[in-house]
Amino acid sequence: MADPEQRIRELRAELEHHNRLYYTEAAPEISDAEYDAKFRELEELEEDHPELADPNSPTRRVGGEPIEGFEQVRHLVPMLSIDDVFELDPATSDTPEAELIEFYQRLRKNLGRDDIAVTVEPKIDGVAVSLVYRGGVLDYAATRGDGETGDDITHNVRTIHRVPLRLEAAGEAGAGVPELLEVRGEIFMPNEAFARMNEERDEAGLATFVNPRNATAGTLKQLDPKMAAERPLDFLAHGFGAYEGDALGGEDDFTALLESLAIPRNQPLIAAATLEETLEAVGRIDRERHELPYATDGAVIKVADYEERRTLGFRSRAPRWAAAYKFRPEQKETVLRDITVQVGRTGVLTPVAELEPVFVSGTTVSRATLHNEEEIERKDIRIGDTVLVEKAGEIIPAVVKVITDKRPDDAEPFSLPDHVGHRCPSCGGPIAKEEGFVAWRCGNFACPAQAVSRIRQFASRKALDIDGVGGIVAEALVRHAHCRTPLDLFDLDEEPLAALNLGSEEEPRRFGEKNAAKVISALGRARDKPLDRWLFAMGIRHVGESASKELARLHETLRDLPESRVLHGIRDATRLEAERRQVSPRNRDNPPADDDSKKARQEKHDELKREIAAIEDSLAPFEVSPDVGPAVADSVTAFFDSEAGRHVLERLAELGLDPKSANFLPQPAEADPGEAPLAGKTLVLTGTLSVGRDEMKRLLESKGAKVSGSVSKNTDFLLAGEGGGSKRKKAESLGVRVIDEDEARRMIEG
Ligand code: IVH
Repeated sequence: MADPEQRIRELRAELEHHNRLYYTEAAPEISDAEYDAKFRELEELEEDHPELADPNSPTRRVGGEPIEGFEQVRHLVPMLSIDDVFELDPATSDTPEAELIEFYQRLRKNLGRDDIAVTVEPKIDGVAVSLVYRGGVLDYAATRGDGETGDDITHNVRTIHRVPLRLEAAGEAGAGVPELLEVRGEIFMPNEAFARMNEERDEAGLATFVNPRNATAGTLKQLDPKMAAERPLDFLAHGFGAYEGDALGGEDDFTALLESLAIPRNQPLIAAATLEETLEAVGRIDRERHELPYATDGAVIKVADYEERRTLGFRSRAPRWAAAYKFRPEQKETVLRDITVQVGRTGVLTPVAELEPVFVSGTTVSRATLHNEEEIERKDIRIGDTVLVEKAGEIIPAVVKVITDKRPDDAEPFSLPDHVGHRCPSCGGPIAKEEGFVAWRCGNFACPAQAVSRIRQFASRKALDIDGVGGIVAEALVRHAHCRTPLDLFDLDEEPLAALNLGSEEEPRRFGEKNAAKVISALGRARDKPLDRWLFAMGIRHVGESASKELARLHETLRDLPESRVLHGIRDATRLEAERRQVSPRNRDNPPADDDSKKARQEKHDELKREIAAIEDSLAPFEVSPDVGPAVADSVTAFFDSEAGRHVLERLAELGLDPKSANFLPQPAEADPGEAPLAGKTLVLTGTLSVGRDEMKRLLESKGAKVSGSVSKNTDFLLAGEGGGSKRKKAESLGVRVIDEDEARRMIEG
């Protein structure tokens, strides 16, 4: 058998070669099956010979081990930016052309010539990256960071198929591969792949990305390269930093070098010899940019000759030989035919403009999100209006403004709640707008628009951990009408669950017996999960993990929540406080009209103040942590007051479920504090106790005790656990009684 080391080397070179033919040249020479066979052979050999591992092996492209954190890399040559960005300023009506001409004239002056050869290319809206190749092998990849140092993102960049891991010169072996090459370029997500990914995410009930740039930046920030391997990232080169190799005279030589090394480069790269040609090239890119596979909002103009670049030099962080020109987004007029309201997976109601189809920036636009009611009010958008439409960042359609001259006489201001008859368009449930938020939302636990995301939340690991119920399964359960709400999961039978079709009608895919059995047993375990997990699982707004824990500390079972003294107290205090501020005679936004009104308001104010103080006093012993603040109290009480919340309680009762708290601490006795078992006693804690210090402190205080931090002659007892040296000595010297936990608990029980 061949020498494994040699075979591994051969396979790596072959696979990298075919990878390049497939991804960069789009001219594959072998079938997918042949490629896979070689890939598997390499995988097996690498498994058998861990000593021959190589981070640049093609097998690493599927994502190796996650990294622990980002290492910082100092760039060999600083990564500069462009200062000269010509943007249209609507206030001055200056055109970017004028600034571009100025830039060219500066070049003329500094170089002492009229015609300066430049290149013009699209500006890629991506994430800047530096790829360092030493001896033709990818050494590392780094983000721009502050231009001096960036994050090492090699683990993620390796998964991008068009980034060569090894450079292979087109000519004879080894010749023409530079000793050192720091390639500069952009990582981005191609528009089409981005749109497809967002669609898939939306269908799976996952959050979608705002634009390709955000999606790219988010992916590169991941520690686990498997994520990057699954995302459609791409790379294009547009420059270089450090370089040791055959001399490069200008952009032509560099382009030829990239071609020969099969490093994908940004195109078109238009050569322009005069100012006229430069303006013409910028115009051409503006016209053709919608055809490009990536998002772009401008063109970059660079002096072509490297000697001339050196002459021009730098101004602080930016070269004098480069400028960027920002295109005005194309805007078109069209008629807003209607406004529809969509219910998102979290219940947010989003108004959407239904437009007379219009061709903008390369595609036909017929819908645009209007974000929320406030945005509509601000722009005073009305049904029937003629509006100006553009594609924000050249990707996402947006309504810029209304052409008021063209407004029909009968157009009325738009009100979102009126438009939907104050009901959720998906389920007919009540809608509400929370104070301080712009969005209207549907709070119905059983709203079908939210069903998939609610089931996913319910089943997620940190909630009830129903292994096997992820996005695809939740989606299929809702689609095939097995579940409308998360609690319907408990009605599932194993057989129909096994037959659940996760695929399509044409290509069915059964969930299967084994998976179904797993889900049923996980549901059995979920019944006994503690209250905090259940609360988190319900996806009540503002109730995350820590709020759930704190709510479970304050309540013994789920059924205590609807009547919760603490939650109602917090909610009432918040409302009274708002009212107090409003009536205060010192309220500058609403000053009293006269002395009588001032006096009346002062009285009302003082009364409210006393009421608030009384509520706060009654809440004080609970020491509610900030995790359960006004927003949580409001949201939880509103939930259990709503039809959906009552439905949840009913269903739980039918299922014989009342989740119990695993961290409940008895609430203070309602009786006169004088009767509490430890009333008037001061305790100090020391050493290790069976529960945390905070927890013990709360327990003692709920029994009327005062817990202090240090021992003095006023201390009644020192509660000492394991250890606890100095406080114990001090207590002994002062004659303070030292008790252990058992004794303390006996005292508590009275
Ligand atoms: S050349 C001295 N060409 O835009 C910098 N940059 O502010 C020369 N960018 O961070 C940069 N597309 O990452 C150049 N075709 C292109 C570009 C491009 C995008 C980014 C670049 C830089 C920023 C310029």
